[in-house]
Amino acid sequence: MKNIIYISDISPEFEMDMLPQILKSAQQRNSMNNITGMLFYGSGHFMQSIEGPDEEVRELIVRIGKDKRHRNIQIIANREIEHRMFPNWWMGLSNMDDRVLLSEEYCELIQTNLDDIEDSSEYEAAVLEFFRDFCEYVGDESESWQADA
Ligand SMILES: Cc1cc2nc3c(=O)[nH]c(=O)nc-3n(C[C@H](O)[C@H](O)[C@H](O)COP(=O)(O)O)c2cc1C
Repeated sequence: MKNIIYISDISPEFEMDMLPQILKSAQQRNSMNNITGMLFYGSGHFMQSIEGPDEEVRELIVRIGKDKRHRNIQIIANREIEHRMFPNWWMGLSNMDDRVLLSEEYCELIQTNLDDIEDSSEYEAAVLEFFRDFCEYVGDESESWQADA
């Protein structure tokens, strides 16, 4: 299985009311391709983790890369995994502009100028830790949590 994490900037074409539609169609399509993951939105950026079969994940990241609703997509992690981090979500969504939990950590990661980073593996590790912390906090409440996201 493969896991890809990227960060992007929203484009001028993006509007807030597009988020529910992006999520709904992502969930429908991902469920057919056995892809799970989490999409963070906030401070004018997206940060998304997608996980699933190699070929499907590769195909999806190409499709997402062509989407005009965001731009400047930067791959943070592209790795082989044995276990999914988000096995229960065809795609979860967290609007970090509306959340207190981990929002500081999110902003710190998202505001890092990736051109200034000397050791990209350190940044990748920090992003992975953010995702793990998120999983830990959300825990068993994922079902109800997702409903109000
Ligand atoms: C931030 C963001 C995240 C997205 N995540 C997914 C996703 O997880 N799965 C998916 O099928 N499409 C996702 N999409 C939508 C795809 O980019 C694309 O529009 C959609 O799959 C339809 O592709 P098509 O027009 O080539 O058929 C996302 C779009 C954006 C802007």
